[in-house]
Amino acid sequence: MIKSRQRFLNGGYYQPLADALITAVNNCPLGFEQRLLDIGCGEGYYLQQLANAAKSSNTNLKLVGLDISKAGVRLAANRKLGAQLVVDSAYKIPLFDNSIDTALSVFSPICPDETARVLSADGLLMMVGPGEEHLTGLTAHIYEQHQPHGGNFNVLDEHPAFDLKEQIDVKTSITVKGPDILDLLTMTPYYWHTSAEQQEQVAALTLLTTPVHFSLRIYQRTSF
Ligand SMILES: C[S@@+](CC[C@H](N)C(=O)[O-])C[C@H]1O[C@@H](n2cnc3c(N)ncnc32)[C@H](O)[C@@H]1O
Repeated sequence: MIKSRQRFLNGGYYQPLADALITAVNNCPLGFEQRLLDIGCGEGYYLQQLANAAKSSNTNLKLVGLDISKAGVRLAANRKLGAQLVVDSAYKIPLFDNSIDTALSVFSPICPDETARVLSADGLLMMVGPGEEHLTGLTAHIYEQHQPHGGNFNVLDEHPAFDLKEQIDVKTSITVKGPDILDLLTMTPYYWHTSAEQQEQVAALTLLTTPVHFSLRIYQRTSF
């Protein structure tokens, strides 16, 4: 799953989301001069994108990545980003209180209490989940009817430590080519809902055009 994700992401298909995150981080009061923690960083694609953007603007972005998958963190380490990386759980973040300016979570589990604890007062949480139309071109090959995934936003919307400041929807269409199509299926939870026959059908496609729709919600930590 992690290797499929790395091959697919390195193909640039989710660049519009990476660009939206770079803009959102740059728009923070501290700009790139801050400490950012990617919770559930996987193989480090978004850390890499942020490190590249900070380097081009000659700023000192301090990056920390955390993931429960040792294989994921190892691949992230191979990117040689100068980030601090750790194998641990989003539910037990091995950082001091108030030590992070911005937390990022892209399609990963989130623990509001732990995230609030490590964030500085007025720190931000950038949370990305699937929008309603996300990957409907792929799910059409799997389900009779598309059932949108709600994302993990509810736990934050109900938590007193977080105030929703902004929602940015990133929507576009991508055309995925050749073996990248099976990588896309393999890196999503849909893979576990497909039969071997459906996997073969998807793998046999040469082109797949699908909407991608990301919801980026920016929450501010409150002093509740
Ligand atoms: C869908 S992947 C997203 C990875 C990365 N954010 C990206 O978008 O490429 C979800 C990630 O969450 C990680 N994960 C799952 N449970 C976790 C937990 N309790 N604590 C930290 N990471 C976790 C997985 O190992 C995986 O890398």
